[in-house]
Amino acid sequence: MLGAGLSAEDHRLVAAAATSFLKPTVWKIAYASLKLPPWTPHPGSLRMTRASRDLRDVAARALARGREQSAEGKNLLGRLMAATDPVSGEAMPESLIIDNLVTFLLAGHETTAQALTWTLYLLALFPEWQERARAEVMAVAGGKVGREHLPQLPLIESIFQEAMRLYPPAPSLARVAKSATSLGGRELKAGATIIIPIYVVHRHERLWTDPLRFDPARFAPEAKASRHRCAYMPFGAGPRTCIGATFAMLEGKAMLATLLSRARFELPPGEVPVPFARVTLRPQGLRLKVSLLD
Ligand code: HEM
Repeated sequence: MLGAGLSAEDHRLVAAAATSFLKPTVWKIAYASLKLPPWTPHPGSLRMTRASRDLRDVAARALARGREQSAEGKNLLGRLMAATDPVSGEAMPESLIIDNLVTFLLAGHETTAQALTWTLYLLALFPEWQERARAEVMAVAGGKVGREHLPQLPLIESIFQEAMRLYPPAPSLARVAKSATSLGGRELKAGATIIIPIYVVHRHERLWTDPLRFDPARFAPEAKASRHRCAYMPFGAGPRTCIGATFAMLEGKAMLATLLSRARFELPPGEVPVPFARVTLRPQGLRLKVSLLD
């Protein structure tokens, strides 16, 4: 996406920044509801500021490399560099390009990583589904997954989707009412916060049959067609829906298929990951036994 590859140190900084940044967000949310100024200190605020600076530094280095290699138009970075304001015709200021890159780095890395983590957990928990998924990959790609195989992996896709139903990487979204309105028969004042509890919607018994059961068959085309379009929204819905959704599905399928073609995943006895929601939904630690296939 960035054209110029990130260094190993930059990769480490992005992964570490995600943790430092996401953990204390609960304070930011609490302070915002209490209408405290955003700079009010809280546990982890220093680490958060440092993580934010690290991410911006990584983005600034990527931008500098992009400029050196005049990557205009070739990838996401090039497109941001080439973009102009449709009204003023002006190019994006450097700080706005960096803001966008930071958003993409954080929104793109953490969510997909958590979706894959939960998928591997569920496949270790239900080895019969893992074997079926591996059989599909082997039949289609014979152990070397390429981009041409991705449209031919419906079971891998259904498994990834079902994992994001039970463990949505973004477990809730929030909106603020710009003006007074009514929603579902309730009156809302201007400025009211609306929480959209995706995790709950995905497990609601009025929307799903036997909602707590892991069943990838829910994502067969016929089953999908009969569902309310907002019963499943791991990528959100409406005008601000995830801009990376199609890319994330491709990336998730490619990684899952590659991992399953090379290794078997098992759950050590007594391993029960506890979901921990801080903007994203992570397991509070998860160990899997990984054995390479012959
Ligand atoms: C499994 C992976 C992913 C999940 C579950 C996910 C989920 C979401 C959700 C729920 C939103 C909407 C937030 C809202 O409505 O307030 C969102 C927005 C966004 N996502 Fe993703 N995302 C994923 C992967 C990615 C990837 C790979 C990228 C970039 C390459 C990305 C970039 C973004 C950006 C930039 C936004 C903000 C869009 C806007 O406000 O217009 N996401 N994502």
